Amino acid sequence: MKKEHIVSYEELRWEELTEQDRTLLEAAIEATDTSHSPYSHFRVGAALRLASGETVKGSNQENIAYPSGLCAERTAMFAAAIQHPGEAFDTLAVVARNPEGALCGASPCGACRQVMAEYEMKQQRKMRVLVFFSKGKILIFDSVERLLPFCFEM
Ligand code: THU
Repeated sequence: MKKEHIVSYEELRWEELTEQDRTLLEAAIEATDTSHSPYSHFRVGAALRLASGETVKGSNQENIAYPSGLCAERTAMFAAAIQHPGEAFDTLAVVARNPEGALCGASPCGACRQVMAEYEMKQQRKMRVLVFFSKGKILIFDSVERLLPFCFEM
């Protein structure tokens, strides 16, 4: 039997965002300054808003032993899980700067989606994900489930 999976999400322009989401994306943009990316020169910034309203930032941290590095999204989530135990993740915003320094899109990689999915399941509350492509195109997913359907579970 053939089945289809449809992904629904919102696509908004910068001016259409709520002030809260704009502020979170601005924090993610700021976080690109802390990226350590001497190999890819691709600076990714993430900002995670917690249920308390607090924001935890992350950025990609690369390493000469390549697999030792970590993506921006995971540094933010792991930092939040450690520094704010038990606090639910409300919204995660992700942006990137290309090697020229211009803001560009970075849709979360599969490994980061799997980590998001696990925290979402653990907290039994949906986590929103904002993915910046340009000021004219920001994608908003109301749950990690939209980004990683049929994810690994035990
Ligand atoms: N990267 C992220 O930080 N997040 C993603 O979701 C995808 C990729 C980083 C990893 C590496 O430092 C650089 O972007 C280029 O792949």
